[in-house]
Amino acid sequence: MRVLVTGGAGFIGSHIVELLLEHGHDVAVIDNLSTGKEENVPKGARLYPVDLTSWRIQEVLAAERPEVIIHQAAQIDVRRSVENPAMDARVNIIGSINLLEHAREFGVQKVVYASSAAVYGNPLSVPVAEDHPILATSPYGVSKYVVERYLYVYRELYGIDFTVLRYANVYGPRQDPLGEGGVVAIFTHRLAKGLPVTIFGDGEQTRDYVYVGDVARANLLALTQGGGEVVNISCAREVSVNQLLQIMQDVTGVQATVHWAPKRPGEIDRSALANDRARRVLGWRPSVTLAEGIERVFAYERASL
Ligand SMILES: NC(=O)c1ccc[n+]([C@@H]2O[C@H](COP(=O)([O-])OP(=O)(O)OC[C@H]3O[C@@H](n4cnc5c(N)ncnc54)[C@H](O)[C@@H]3O)[C@@H](O)[C@H]2O)c1
Repeated sequence: MRVLVTGGAGFIGSHIVELLLEHGHDVAVIDNLSTGKEENVPKGARLYPVDLTSWRIQEVLAAERPEVIIHQAAQIDVRRSVENPAMDARVNIIGSINLLEHAREFGVQKVVYASSAAVYGNPLSVPVAEDHPILATSPYGVSKYVVERYLYVYRELYGIDFTVLRYANVYGPRQDPLGEGGVVAIFTHRLAKGLPVTIFGDGEQTRDYVYVGDVARANLLALTQGGGEVVNISCAREVSVNQLLQIMQDVTGVQATVHWAPKRPGEIDRSALANDRARRVLGWRPSVTLAEGIERVFAYERASL
């Protein structure tokens, strides 16, 4: 299949590109390299260093004529979205509309879209199923959800199919430990360097950590399955920051020095996403345990020292 991956030079996108190539797909990548890196793009994929909001998206679609677009490119920094909601909306909403308009022009059949647990906000109950109310508490959460609705509209108006994948907390090799990246990337990076880690609040806040290779596999399955569906991609397991650190110490044999800091305002206390629908409509289930995944990230961090 001819597949275009936006954000293919980023953390999750580059793993998707790798898996698509392994399965014999023809892959092109659009990425403005703002947080992504050229060296993340596997050989065999064609990289177009183009911004989502640019008119040049049309040129790329005209040249590549993809059958499916896997749309990962986004501004992903929740705090930046709070500081500058217009910037967040320009990239995540206007950029996505620009992509969809040209997708329609060039006969794209389907869009697989990276949405987020952020659309649910502070969950009313855990684990969160897909029909949980949308209570996003950040401009980022809102912009991710708005694009989901545009996908419905484009399906109704123009027959472009979609699958929305709402990711829980994704972790794995190549996640940036220095940016806003996840706690797994930050902690493993610091453990590998022998640096202390900071826990905000009492460390009992929970998240649902899903391995990037499993997320890539969900995208691969969504090429042909889950049409018109919104699907959580998660392990459906709550893990506290304290538990996470314990697993890391057990797996790596490194004892962390912990600095405690006050709870960050607006931080969600509990989060985990139900994944029954992913099992049903995609035939997907997570395959990498947290301990195995952490071992892989730690090996990657060690090798990059
Ligand atoms: N990492 C997570 O835990 C997580 C959780 C839920 C959802 N998501 C979603 O998954 C997707 C991928 O996230 P990631 O963690 O790999 O982040 P990332 O920053 O590594 O990847 C995003 C990519 O998009 C590119 N990009 C950003 N703005 C662009 C623009 N205007 N034009 C073209 N390219 C642009 C970046 O250069 C980068 O390569 C995002 O849509 C994000 O919202 C991630």
